Amino acid sequence: MAPSLFIRSVDASSAAAWERMRRELWPAEPDDHKEEVARFLSGKQKREEEVLIAFTPDEIPIGFIELSIRPYAEGCRSEKVAYIEGLFVEKRMRKEGAGAALVKAAEEWGRAHGCMEIASDTEIENESSIAAHKAFGFDEVMRVVCFRKDL
Ligand SMILES: CC(C)(COP(=O)(O)OP(=O)(O)OC[C@H]1O[C@@H](n2cnc3c(N)ncnc32)[C@H](O)[C@@H]1OP(=O)(O)O)[C@@H](O)C(=O)NCCC(=O)NCCS
Repeated sequence: MAPSLFIRSVDASSAAAWERMRRELWPAEPDDHKEEVARFLSGKQKREEEVLIAFTPDEIPIGFIELSIRPYAEGCRSEKVAYIEGLFVEKRMRKEGAGAALVKAAEEWGRAHGCMEIASDTEIENESSIAAHKAFGFDEVMRVVCFRKDL
């Protein structure tokens, strides 16, 4: 655990760092990220969501976690589940406890919103994320294959 990290909700001052790290995690079109960041900061989201940023003691943003509340999540028993939509720590700062600190803050956010469970997912080949989730205390509940077809 990294006791010297600070975890805070994203705001206008950390939005650019969130967008940059988001682009690294999900390398889509830059505009998609801009729109998503603007949408979140406008406070006009339709469901409960949160974005937490991890900062070093000298205020450098080094990771983020995106959260929502889902009415259903695979393997869960409750109907209000805190969900990790995205989790990222800068490469040079990995394996120093930042991921665990973000997940701990996410758990607190979930509890504060009345959730009894927290859930997450990752790609089947993302071995380091799977190992980290297990170290964070998650149980693996299912492996899925996704399909698509043009209509
Ligand atoms: C997954 C990720 C967020 C973990 O962040 P992190 O800051 O390195 O995690 P921590 O340092 O808090 O590690 C927590 C635990 O996971 C373990 N862990 C982390 N990375 C690991 C790896 N590559 N292999 C094995 N175990 C790993 C740590 O050893 C630690 O276990 P411990 O508590 O028993 O010591 C980070 O690797 C990352 O950003 N990866 C790229 C993005 C990604 O895959 N995100 C998840 C899917 S959205």
